[in-house]
Amino acid sequence: MQYADLLIETHGRVAVIRLNRPKAMNALNDNMMNELGAALQQFDADANIGCIVLAGSEKAFAAGADIAAMANYTYADTYPGNYIGRNWEHILNIRKPVIGAVAGFCLGGGCELAMMCDFLIAADSARFGQPEIKVGVTPGAGGTQRLPRTIGKAKAMDLLLTARMIDAAEAERTGLVSRVVPADKLMEEALAAATVVASMSVTVAMAIKDSVNRAFETTLTEGVRYERRYFHAAFGTPAQKEGMSAFLAKRPANFDGL
Ligand code: HXC
Repeated sequence: MQYADLLIETHGRVAVIRLNRPKAMNALNDNMMNELGAALQQFDADANIGCIVLAGSEKAFAAGADIAAMANYTYADTYPGNYIGRNWEHILNIRKPVIGAVAGFCLGGGCELAMMCDFLIAADSARFGQPEIKVGVTPGAGGTQRLPRTIGKAKAMDLLLTARMIDAAEAERTGLVSRVVPADKLMEEALAAATVVASMSVTVAMAIKDSVNRAFETTLTEGVRYERRYFHAAFGTPAQKEGMSAFLAKRPANFDGL
């Protein structure tokens, strides 16, 4: 499929989707979000892909929702038109792991999209923020919900109310990103991490992703019960047979196709 606002590559079992509106700092508009949903769904359904990397450019992961596109919206355009809801959340239904690779500006809707990835690797050039308040709106894609759950109430309120940006080191300290790497190594490191993930059993990776996400939706007791079902079910998979027999035979496991 051809995309106007995305660049797509595959490297073995890893798919790389890059947001690509360089003239607008990758501001997220309807076309890009429609395309992103389609690309994610395409790779989620592709048995040859085990992990997806979502990245932007060196300058910007994404500087937010497209302000030029939404500036003249009315309430009728947004609520009945289901702005954001109509095409931003396909990523939440992707069952394979999605690693966000963030360089440069990651602001507003860009930061909200990044927080919908399973984990983030940041370049040391990355800058995160929720500056919606400066353009007279609240976040609309989970910024007031995922940010406090990720970095805590105090930091989240600080970012959301002052619109200040944090650098990659502060993002790592607060738990927003899992690793920080030199900017010129970002894609290499993200690909290396994704290649490791994609070498595991996709069935087990999906179960782990689903179980971790469950932790944010339920109580501890129910969450552990949910996890236990997956753990028990794993014993019905070829992945468990291969993984454990490989360990006992002192050979590397081969989860290809499992
Ligand atoms: C549309 C944008 C944009 C955006 C940047 N551009 N961000 N266009 N929507 N969110 C465009 C600029 O208009 C400019 O276009 C070009 O990209 C380069 O940006 P500059 O401002 O010239 O670059 P710089 O001075 O380096 O500043 C970079 C920046 C700044 C700090 C990222 O552009 C900025 O503050 N952008 C807006 C960030 C923001 O408020 N994001 C939240 C949006 S609201 P031209 O044509 O002039 O060259 C939001 C709501 C989400 O995201 C709610 C639901 C998801």
